[in-house]
Amino acid sequence: MQNYGKFYQKPWKERINLISQNEKLTKDQIQILKSSAQNRFLGDTMIENYITDYSYPEGIAFHYLVNNKDYLVPMVTEEPSVIAASSHGASIIAKAGGFVASTSERLMIGQIILENVEDSKKLILEIKELTKNLLSVADRAHPSLKRRGGGARWLKTRILAKDLVAIDIAIDVQEAMGANMINTMLEAVAKKLEEVLNQQVLMSILSNYATECLARTTCKIPFELLSRNGIAGEIIAKKIAQAGRVAQLDTYRAATHNKGIMNGIDAVVMASGNDWRAIESGAHAYAARNGQYRGLSTWKLSGGYLIGELELPLPVGFVGGSIGIVPLVSINQKLMKITSARELESIIVSVGLAQNLAALLALVSEGIQKGHMRLQLKSLVIAAGADATEEDAIVDRMLQEGKRDADSAKKILRDYRKRDKNDRSQLE
Ligand code: MEV
Repeated sequence: MQNYGKFYQKPWKERINLISQNEKLTKDQIQILKSSAQNRFLGDTMIENYITDYSYPEGIAFHYLVNNKDYLVPMVTEEPSVIAASSHGASIIAKAGGFVASTSERLMIGQIILENVEDSKKLILEIKELTKNLLSVADRAHPSLKRRGGGARWLKTRILAKDLVAIDIAIDVQEAMGANMINTMLEAVAKKLEEVLNQQVLMSILSNYATECLARTTCKIPFELLSRNGIAGEIIAKKIAQAGRVAQLDTYRAATHNKGIMNGIDAVVMASGNDWRAIESGAHAYAARNGQYRGLSTWKLSGGYLIGELELPLPVGFVGGSIGIVPLVSINQKLMKITSARELESIIVSVGLAQNLAALLALVSEGIQKGHMRLQLKSLVIAAGADATEEDAIVDRMLQEGKRDADSAKKILRDYRKRDKNDRSQLE
């Protein structure tokens, strides 16, 4: 490995030079690194060893009607068809009256893990006695949260093993996601426990299994809105309900079912400046809450309707973290016309359900590939080297010839260029 010295201490230009020389980047590659570095100040503020910005495309999903309000939904994703599918799912649900979404309290759970516990029952009693005091230690560690109406709400203990006890502290974080606040509060409580009870603390950290910050959405779709390609809506509705059942029964299918839901959720979580890994981990833990990993959504039939439901932890913030410093995030909040974290949660959970509906609808009718095909071919064709003026023609040719692979894309592009050159030389 090349010697990069104290990379983090070097100015940006030196970092770029060092990387370029050591890794033998071409002139074009260096130029791309430099021109992609759109906001060096922000990059250096947000992460370490910053060299450039890696950007994802952002698009808008339409037709979201949530709790009787229309929303534009900005989505950040690298996957073709996600936004089209999202708008499609949302438009069916809008015709059916829209989503009815709700949120629980916004409490985050922080954990303090106590180790080398000698008598767990005695320790739990001692902690119980101290509860009021510990909650106020937590609040004093972050007084501004208390002033805004938030703060530590309750404390519970659980015995994890003979020698390990977990303390769960629920904290009302108001409009923030609150990771830093929670960790500061927990560390203050942990210190107090060490002092007062002489008890060893293994660690203190928030839990991403945010079971006290849930978002829920439902939709009720009349069968007739689901008919496609001459297949009756009732038949499609039954197949969607069956697909929902499979996701409850089989972990292999449940993982893919939930991946489709997260296609939509992550894209809005990213557009809103939130931590999508936190949401992913909480969602998958919630999917396994009853001991078996299952689909997060359910689809049932009832009196001529297909009823969809989705519930998951959505500890997203409306303020704080990178939200306040990334300019695109404020624009996205403005596009969504949202004023609170709860409103954002309601949109995100609804996007998850719409995304799921669109995927299941495609899967049980024409299959997923048909709708995806043009966008997937476009990616293949660009990877083969086609530019914007050639892209559509090469995709059309691949569709005509029934070709779907990278080698064919390259060959068709070569032939196209040869023919184009011949045409031009005949004109000259
Ligand atoms: C692809 O990104 C997502 C799907 O596989 C989801 C699903 O199968 O439900 C289409």
